[in-house]
This record gives sequence, C-alpha cells and structure tokens, in this order.
Amino acid sequence: MSSPRKSASPAAVADATTPPSLAQDGGQPNIDVDDDGDSAFADGDNFSETTSLASSLIRGHIMNGRKYSSLRSDYWGPSDESQFESMDAGHYNLLTLDSNQPEPLFRSPVVEPQNILDIGTGPGTWAVDVADKYPEAVVYGVDLSPPPVTWMPPNCHLQVDDVLEDWTFRENFDLIHMRLMLGAFTDNEWRDVYRKAYDNLKPGGWIEQVELDVRVMADDNSLRPDTLIAEWGNNFLGCSERAGRPLDTQLTMKAKIEEAGFVDVQEHLYKCPIGGWPKNKVLKDAGRINFVQWTAGLEGWAMFLLTNWGSPEPWTADEVRVYVAKVREELKQPRLHIWHYTVDDEYGVANLNDRGLQFVLTY
Ligand SMILES: C[S@@+](CC[C@H](N)C(=O)[O-])C[C@H]1O[C@@H](n2cnc3c(N)ncnc32)[C@H](O)[C@@H]1O
Repeated sequence: MSSPRKSASPAAVADATTPPSLAQDGGQPNIDVDDDGDSAFADGDNFSETTSLASSLIRGHIMNGRKYSSLRSDYWGPSDESQFESMDAGHYNLLTLDSNQPEPLFRSPVVEPQNILDIGTGPGTWAVDVADKYPEAVVYGVDLSPPPVTWMPPNCHLQVDDVLEDWTFRENFDLIHMRLMLGAFTDNEWRDVYRKAYDNLKPGGWIEQVELDVRVMADDNSLRPDTLIAEWGNNFLGCSERAGRPLDTQLTMKAKIEEAGFVDVQEHLYKCPIGGWPKNKVLKDAGRINFVQWTAGLEGWAMFLLTNWGSPEPWTADEVRVYVAKVREELKQPRLHIWHYTVDDEYGVANLNDRGLQFVLTY
C-alpha cells in the first residue's frame, strides 16, 4: 500500500435536514415523491475529487478492461477507479440515511473503542472516517486490493490480505464491521469469517454488517416489469447462485452469525431511494448519492458475474457493456421512483458468554 488519501468528513453529509424515522420498524410506507423535483441525477460535486490509484504494490489482474485483485480469482468485484467511486458513494449514501443517528458511521453501541476492524474495506473510506473521529482507537481495514488513499490518520492501518486466511491480529476488537460483502463467500467461508470474528472480539464486543438487496423496487407503477432494471436483481441473484457465492447475504447472514455463537441482534429496515425523486430532503440527498453509487458501479457489478455465470450461457464483455449502457439509460428516466431495501437489525446484548452481537442489515 502507498499514498493514503484523505476522506471527506462524514459531517459534510450528516447535517442534512433530519428525515422522519428512516428506519421503519413496522410496515414499509411509500416514500413521498417530489413532483417538482427533476430526476435521478446527482449533482456530482461530492465525488469529483475521488480516486487516484497510486499503488504499484499489487497491480491486480485485468479482465475485460477492469482491474481485479490478484489474491483471489473468485471474487466478483473489481478494485479500480470507478468501483471505488461507487463504493465511496455507497458510504455517503448510508451516512446520509443515518444522519439522524447519534453516530452515523455505525449503529453498534460501542463506547470509547480501542480496536476496530473493517473487513473488506474497499477504498478504506469507512475505516479512515472512523479513525479520524476516534483518535484514541486503532482502526484496521483489510482488503484483497490496496486502497486508493492519499492520506490517512496515524491510527488507521489499511492492509492487503485475504480474510479467509488465518488472522494474526495481536489484540481483540471492540467492533468488527463489514459492509457490502455480498457474494464474497460461499456458505462455509461465511461461517469461517464469522467464527474468526467471534474469536477476535473482546468480551462485550460487537459485529456489525451492512448489506443491500440487489433487487430494485417501486411502490407505484413507475417501474415497468418489462424493463431491465426490474429484472436486474434476479439476473444477478441467478449468476451468484451459479457461482456458489449468493448475493442474498442480507437474508442469510443472521442465521450464520447466530450459528457462530453471537447473540442479541438488532435490526432496522430502510428503503434506499435511487435518484433524487423523494420529497423528503434527506431521502432526496441520499437518493442522489445512491444514483452515483449505481451508475458508477453498474459495469463492475455486472462484468465478472455475467461473463462467467450469465444465463443462458456466459455473456461476452461487449454484451455486458451494451446491457449496462441500457440500464444506465433506464436509470435516467425522470419519473422512476425506485429504491432497494435497507435492513438494519439490532438485538440487545446478552451475557451468555459476555459477547454482544449487533448486526446491521442494509438491503
Ligand atoms: C463491494 S466492496 C465493499 C467495500 C467497502 N466495505 C464499502 O462498503 O465501501 C467489497 C470488498 O470486499 C473485498 N473482499 C472480498 N473478498 C475478500 C477477502 N476474502 N478478503 C478481504 N477482502 C475481501 C473486496 O476486495 C472489496 O473491496
């Protein structure tokens, strides 16, 4: 790793007008549409200064014009500039959705943390922001690929490693965080990761996981069933099933985390709008940022899975590019009131073995 990068302060997005309760504990009310507003387009300014890939330590593996980690050949996601832009937008999208929370960076009730681990840290944005905000803590981020950071706080350590290998951390953690690790592991690999997380947490420590549902939905008839977006989620759920690393992690992680010995989960459910169509100011901001996450991420989400596991047979890279271009055009339709689920689960801490579990599902 080289050249750490300074991440923008979460406060930049945390001061937006407080939304009505974004975590819907009961039913899922429709999000009010801003009839006067324009469309899905984000302003873009938030992300214009994003990434510059500085590392030559790990050159990665180039396939179909995208850069993948050379540590594993089975992980679907590229680690390159546009994917880091998408991941950064995902980070700010979630900070915006949680801007009414006392701590938008995580929901675990961790007080004065000393050691924090971010598994699959990607661009390291979450780890850097947490380290910045908690200077007394040491924050580790681990990923298969080097992050594109050019600055990081001295208490932040971003490492290139495979979490399926043995963990050699000297101290146990107060909080282990994972976000958007969907489709990274087989069922048995997930069990291995949760067991290691359990073994590497302090008594009373917390694990927090944020995952999204790849299916796109709408409460009204703005999403026609014959569109590519309407079928997007099922297309990729199918690919990931065939790959043996299902993308529906948000549905399966709870049972596996409990199986690892954790107790007391708390869960919250959100709707994440894509585009600036909601009336509510915070949801509008979040939707605009989420639109950037989607448009920057589309090709990277699609390329590996479709060229390896597409149906009825693996697609060519050009077929994927054409498909993605069409989906991107569909996303720009002005009256599309689409969202994907966000779930945030919390259970209280029990003292069975002095371990608390919080996992936050976002889908
Ligand atoms: C979709 S990205 C999410 C990044 C970040 N957590 C975020 O929310 O922006 C998933 C990350 O997990 C990393 N990853 C996948 N498998 C891994 C493994 N076995 N060990 C470490 N990192 C892994 C990938 O390299 C990728 O950067």
